[in-house]
Amino acid sequence: MDKIRVLINREQLNDRINILSNQIEKDYKDKDLHIICVLKGSVFFTMDLIRNINQNVRLDFVKIKSYNGTKSGEINFEANLISDIDNKDVLIIEDIIDSGKTMNYLTNYLRKNYNPRSIKVCTLLDKKEKREISFTTDYTGFVVDDKFVIGYGLDYDEDYRNLPYIGYVDDEDIKHLKKDR
Ligand code: IMP
Ligand code: MG
Repeated sequence: MDKIRVLINREQLNDRINILSNQIEKDYKDKDLHIICVLKGSVFFTMDLIRNINQNVRLDFVKIKSYNGTKSGEINFEANLISDIDNKDVLIIEDIIDSGKTMNYLTNYLRKNYNPRSIKVCTLLDKKEKREISFTTDYTGFVVDDKFVIGYGLDYDEDYRNLPYIGYVDDEDIKHLKKDR
């Protein structure tokens, strides 16, 4: 664990999330806001974000897996717990956008198979420089450099999700993460 460095601490997360929830609350005033939380990485972010929104929201979950270790791999729709989003204003909450493939896939899938009134995406982190597919988010917590990040929901092969901050490891230390934990 001592190889993990803090990239974004708890206070910075709280401050930024407060700003995002206030913005979302303003933008969705008098709308039927329907949140879709992308499992598992955005659970912490989603909960902190929506408990700050002073209006009714509905909450659904999807599970999409696109990562194998630190390499961007295939996209799999592992679970779909979406209820009725017909004519609803949908806001997808994601932990991090990297190549853009996952969010591109999910937004297209929802548009094709459901009938939402609108779809927007809120991501905690954006690795903008890694984009392979053009994809623009509507709300972004932090733009981050191309580092592998963990914590506050984000994992390295399913570990480290419960760190209360966003951490990173230097490239040469990633291979030690498993045996050091
Ligand atoms: P994309 O499809 O390449 O945009 O990948 C997005 C997904 O990859 C996210 O939902 C994360 O699950 C995962 N991911 C991308 N970068 C990181 C990282 O630095 N740490 C942990 N997971 C990551
Ligand atoms: Mg994810």
